[in-house]
Amino acid sequence: MLSPERLQRLQQQADRLRTRPLRELCADAARARDWSLEVGPLYLNYARQHLDEVALGELLSLAEASDVGTALKRQFDGEIVNVSEGRAVLHTALRSDVGEGASARAARSQAIDAQARMRELATDLAASDISDIVHVGIGGSDLGPRLLMDALQRPDARFRVHFIANVDAHEAQRVLAGLDPAHTAGVLVSKSFGTRETLLNGALLRDWLGDASRLYAVSANLDRVADFGIPADRVLPMWDWVGGRFSLWSAVGFSALLALGEEAFDQLLAGAALMDRHVVSTENSANMAVLHALFALWNRNARGMASESVIAYDQRLLQLPAYLQQLRMESLGKSVGSAGQSLLHATAPATWGGVGSSTQHSFFQALHQGSERLPLEFIGVRRPDHSHRTQHATLLANLLAQAEALANGQDSDDPQRRYPGGTPSSMLLLDQLTPEALGALLALYEHSTSVLGHLWGLNAFDQWGVELGKKVATRLEPALRGESMAGVDDAVTSSLLERIRCD
Ligand code: F6P
Repeated sequence: MLSPERLQRLQQQADRLRTRPLRELCADAARARDWSLEVGPLYLNYARQHLDEVALGELLSLAEASDVGTALKRQFDGEIVNVSEGRAVLHTALRSDVGEGASARAARSQAIDAQARMRELATDLAASDISDIVHVGIGGSDLGPRLLMDALQRPDARFRVHFIANVDAHEAQRVLAGLDPAHTAGVLVSKSFGTRETLLNGALLRDWLGDASRLYAVSANLDRVADFGIPADRVLPMWDWVGGRFSLWSAVGFSALLALGEEAFDQLLAGAALMDRHVVSTENSANMAVLHALFALWNRNARGMASESVIAYDQRLLQLPAYLQQLRMESLGKSVGSAGQSLLHATAPATWGGVGSSTQHSFFQALHQGSERLPLEFIGVRRPDHSHRTQHATLLANLLAQAEALANGQDSDDPQRRYPGGTPSSMLLLDQLTPEALGALLALYEHSTSVLGHLWGLNAFDQWGVELGKKVATRLEPALRGESMAGVDDAVTSSLLERIRCD
């Protein structure tokens, strides 16, 4: 764990390196080539992280002393690592056999049964006259499947899949406007089946369809699903050992499976399983997830950088930053440790990003010449799934150019044309955006998040922070509906309410 002494040592390393420009560190051809790793379809080059062998050694020593390998193994084996909720964390059992404990084995067999059931329901739907699927869910019950769909969609898909997440009914209105209720089925996804947004949107969809006979549900709460009017034979399971933001591999991904097909979904799981096996069997210095986490920790704690940004040079990964925002910020956005103690170090940087080259024409100005340097992760895909070679070459030239320009900068007599450089970055390259590569990439981020949580001494698997806002909203709803002001006890809210209700 990151103790104050360890933190101090890392900060001393960062201070020492302050006088060594990044471009100077990276000028070494051996480093440019060797500071890299390849795991299945993923290649990671970390030569542009602003550290040297000594600092890297310090980070690896932190990982050793923190027993990262044992922590991961405890998680994979099904020990109760989500202590505040008393739960195991077994999303790995949805795709691989890396867990050896009895509960990991039991989870694996439940997952295999659920996958068989998903396929049966998919076959039934394929034989029906349904052309469109409306997926209703929010947070982890939305972002993963939405990303999969957007990244891997194919023109010959059997179904068109649409998503409704926001309680703002403009989203539902727009989605449903182009659809025919007679040829549409709904998939309501909520682990708790208690999320207000999903229940309201589910009811809206049920009304629009005319009844509940074409509704399916994915949930861990069968009673609530039954109360909603969906019979057990149209329900796919969820379990308390899968957290929402880690759940796209489960039946939460049912809509994605319908859109992409079973083969692609299997390849996605296989890619994640490949990363699971790598992570569980590889020493820290060659472990992609451990190194990924250590660089994030280095930039956050030793160098004091308060954000991390992912720029994917592939339009199909447009949804990736939103997905990663939940994964990283809901998991790591805590300032209290697993045992309830206040943490003395900084945690979750703000995770954000976008796709290149578009974002170069929006926020890159600030990355090049703003008052702070922010760490970046670039993602590139070597082979596109289109035939426009010139455009792809331009895209990849931009990918390489931005990483280089941001790292090296450029001096000038004219201060307006001076580029300080010094932006640390990693480069993740995929040969092609296949389901397997995407599975490996997402599993990498999951394991990196888990390792970071362990190093920071916090529980990466709960999310108590989101509860207070939900409670206050429930208390305020009667006032918004004009029924009762009993729940309003804050002066500013009360004044704003008056304004809202005037209209
Ligand atoms: O509000 C946060 C959260 O609990 C997320 O962790 C979760 O992914 C999302 O809400 C949706 O929850 P559910 O699947 O239970 O509807």
